[in-house]
This record gives sequence, structure tokens and C-alpha cells, in this order.
Amino acid sequence: MAELDLSKSHEMFARAEKLVPNGIFGPRNPNFMVPGQYPCFYREGNMGHAIDVDGNEYVDFMCSFGANLLGYRHPKVDEAVREQMSRGGLMTMPMDRWVELAEYLTDNTPLADWVIFAKNGSDVTTWCTNAARVHTKKKKILMASGSYHGFHSWCVPITTGVPNEHHSGVVNFEYNNIKSLQKAVDKYKDELAAIILTPMRHEVFSDIELPVDGFYDEVRKLCDEHNIVFILDDIRCCYRLQFEGSSEYFGAKPDLVTIGKGMANGYPISVAYGTEKMFPAAKQVYFSGTHFYSAQPMAAALCTLEIIRTEGVIDKVRELGEKLRDGMIEVAESNGQKIKWSGPPAIPFMTIEGDSGFQWSRAFCGEMIKRGIFLHPHHNWFICAGHTEDDINKTVEAADAGFKVVKGLQ
Ligand SMILES: Cc1ncc(COP(=O)(O)O)c(C=O)c1O
Repeated sequence: MAELDLSKSHEMFARAEKLVPNGIFGPRNPNFMVPGQYPCFYREGNMGHAIDVDGNEYVDFMCSFGANLLGYRHPKVDEAVREQMSRGGLMTMPMDRWVELAEYLTDNTPLADWVIFAKNGSDVTTWCTNAARVHTKKKKILMASGSYHGFHSWCVPITTGVPNEHHSGVVNFEYNNIKSLQKAVDKYKDELAAIILTPMRHEVFSDIELPVDGFYDEVRKLCDEHNIVFILDDIRCCYRLQFEGSSEYFGAKPDLVTIGKGMANGYPISVAYGTEKMFPAAKQVYFSGTHFYSAQPMAAALCTLEIIRTEGVIDKVRELGEKLRDGMIEVAESNGQKIKWSGPPAIPFMTIEGDSGFQWSRAFCGEMIKRGIFLHPHHNWFICAGHTEDDINKTVEAADAGFKVVKGLQ
């Protein structure tokens, strides 16, 4: 298969590298995918598809790292934002959307007795740890090793430039290992303000792990016994598993929950919500950001959430994900490849048995991108409601060539 023409992308990346640290910072850096073979910049999006600056079109299974849940440029959401813009967005006082969204979320989310609004996941995960400290009058945070809760100093995975004392209040345990959890709580119980967990284990370079039976019951029990706040970081999974929250999906009973990504179909907003018992602490922790009060993302969230609630979005992404899973497993087997498919259908992760250092995954994804399928070699993928059955069929068809390339390397 011919290489993609990525000349404009590469030329723009070279210009960006002179002006922006690493050209594109964070996990969106194309070298973090398959170096040299991925587009660096997009020109436009359309539902489940993206077109890069060279004009190549992709079925995009990264969905803006989860933020695109309904499809890029969803007409109803964009119209809701345009309507909001006709009245104003970020003004001196918050706009009416503030109250409407707070009421919408608390009316529709069993665990939400109150909410706060911000922009990014990191804003709200950090704020929740501080609310937990106020509530418990303790300091330490227990999190699973390798989990990602944002880029703020207390939890950033790469600590270059971060003083030790900024993250030394965090202690670790092994996700899904109840003994490891009990041991950590036993050791630090008098200092622990919070246990923060993602609804399932969804780390880069690892198969997704769903919570084992009894895991969340044990978390709740330990939190109740030792005055520890349970924070569920639902930033990545929210609204792809269950409308009422991933806590309902997995039977977890957190005190504080963070959501973001898919809730406004790409418009910048994140939320923390909590139970009544956390409300007094929430009132005491300072929180503000100039753009936290912006009304357009709130209008986008109100529209997106109502579409998710009424238009079968969660069923659709699950069904498309199941079709993708079944097709990929079949085509892998027909090429003599054993793959491990993990995670719920709408947030899948694929590894190839025997693949050391994700080399075969990179070769597979490198072949797929040439055929117009944008996957990630070592991060989970996302299904959106803008994907179609045709997109899935095209992906499975391309995967035949992808697995043949892998076979050639074995
Ligand atoms: C589980 C989880 N928590 C927190 C974050 C941080 O969110 P943001 O990048 O919006 O700051 C992410 C981002 O990927 C995430 O996946």
C-alpha cells in the first residue's frame, strides 16, 4: 500500500517545533503514535471522520481522545452553541446556562446533589482532592499505580520540574488488587484524605481491566471505616457506558465524581459533582478560572446530554463497538493472529499476543492509517455515535491487510 502524502502535515510540524515545545505537546504528538506515518494536523472533521491538512480522510477512532462522542461538528450541538453566542458567552456574571446545567446534572445523575464547573479534567480531579482534605482534615491521596488523573503537580506521571513535596503526598496501590488496597489503607489510614480511582483500569500500554467482583464494595467499606473520601475519576469513560454515570454501571458508590471529555461533544467543560455530605467541604475550597464561567460549553453540554439521554447514543456506541470487536477478532484469527480485546465495546483496547514493546501494534496501526483508519498503537480507542456500520466494515476490511503486515514480521 502506498505511503500517505503527509507533506503539508510534516512541513507544518517543522514550523510548530520552532515555536511550540515539541511541536505538539502531550500525547497528541504524532511521534507518540507511529513516528512519521501519522498526520500532525487536521483541517476539518465530519461526524466519525477527520480530514488532515494534506486532504487525507480517516475514520477517527481516537475521537479527540474521547471528547467527540456524538460526532465532529454535530449540527444540533453546534447550533446550540451558535444560539448561545448570539447572546454572549463569557461575561462578567455567569449566564443562565449555569443554573440550567446544574439542575440538569443533579436531576439526571443519582449521585449528584451539587456540581462545580471547570474546563479540564485536571482542574476537577485536583479540586476534589482538596475538598477531600477539607472534609477529612487529612492530607494523603491513595491512587492506583500508573493511573492518569491529569497533569497537575500532585499526579503528573512525568515529574520533571515538579518539586518532590508536590507529589510526595500521594501513595499507591495496585488497581483491582483488594489485598494491596487493604494494605495501603491499613498503613496510611490516619493520613488518607481520599482514594481516587478511574471506573476501570485504562492505562496506556496495558489491556483494560474491569473492576473485579467486590472491589468497589471494599473501597466503600474502607472509606466508611476510616473517614476517607472516595473520588471516582470518570473523565474518560463518562457517557460512553451509562447516562447516569459509570458509578452506576460498575456499582461503585463514590462521594465525589469528576466528568469531562464526551459531556459537551468537544466543547471545553469539566464537572465535579458530589453527595450532600461533601457539600460543606465543597463550599470551603477556593475554585475559579476565568473561563470556567463561559456559557457556550454549558449550552453545548445541555444539548449533548439531552441527545445522549434521548437518542440512543449509549446503545449505538456499544453496538458499533461490538461489531468492531467481533469483526477484528475474526479477521485476526483468519490471519493466524491472537489478539486480546479488552474494555467495554465503546472504549476498546487491542493487543496482539506475543507483541513485545508494541512493535506489531505500531506496524498494524501504520498499515491502518495508510488505509484511512486512525487508531492508536498503545492507547485505548473510542467509538462515537457519528461512526457508521460502513466505517466499521471498512475498518475490519483494512485490518486484514494490517494483520498480514504483522504476520510478515513474525
Ligand atoms: C481518567 C482521566 N482523568 C483525568 C484526565 C485529565 O483530563 P484533562 O486532560 O482534561 O485535564 C484524563 C485525560 O485524559 C483522564 O483520562
